[in-house]
Amino acid sequence: MPTSAAAQTASDQSVIYLNQAWSQDDREWYYHFSQGSAVLSYDIFLNLEVANSQELFRSDANSIRYGLIPEGPNGFNPDGLPIGISKTTVAAPIGEWPAGDYAGMTCAACHEGQLNYEGKHIRIEGGLGNTFEIQAYFQALNAALQATLTDTAKFDAGGTRWSHKPGSQGQVARAFRARSRNDIRICDTNRCIALALGARAN
Ligand code: HEC
Repeated sequence: MPTSAAAQTASDQSVIYLNQAWSQDDREWYYHFSQGSAVLSYDIFLNLEVANSQELFRSDANSIRYGLIPEGPNGFNPDGLPIGISKTTVAAPIGEWPAGDYAGMTCAACHEGQLNYEGKHIRIEGGLGNTFEIQAYFQALNAALQATLTDTAKFDAGGTRWSHKPGSQGQVARAFRARSRNDIRICDTNRCIALALGARAN
């Protein structure tokens, strides 16, 4: 159950790796290499707050809440995202989607096993996790994006973090506003699901 991992943090020393002939480099690559999934602009994902609080959506606590396994930063994961969330660079625009860096998902979000027992976390590399609540996660992502669009304080908090200048109302923050309004609008997951269902009905 995801709740039993609740005490775990990304910098945890209590993770036990079995001898599966995976090097540290192998596992760091597997956890985070890009498989081409581009869901939401990477910098917006990094700065997004959950719908009902100021907690970051990508935080360890929120990731664990939906059954993802937290992981610290490394060469393949510069921002310490949970296992199975990756960074993909889109070189040329695709439809409404501008070129740039995106956060997305990989097989490892579900295919990494971890047994949580008496404060220890035993990894089974590539094994099935059966903990990731993917629908709830995307609903929560959608709720976070919609809350950010309608709540000015939330929106400005994202812009301020993004510009790395607390309180800044300058050019960088304005650029964030202009871009993220478009990005958040097209990343309305309910709209995407409705479009997909509509396409299937035809
Ligand atoms: C949203 C969660 C999720 C994601 C993402 C996911 N899988 Fe799975 N996968 C599952 C589940 C659940 C099963 C069924 C496991 C079972 O039958 O016990 C499964 C089964 C499999 C199996 C069969 C395993 C077996 O032992 O029979 C393979 C192979 C597989 N997935 C590969 C992949 C690959 C490759 C990717 C990425 C492209 C991927 N999966 C992404 C959830 C996921």
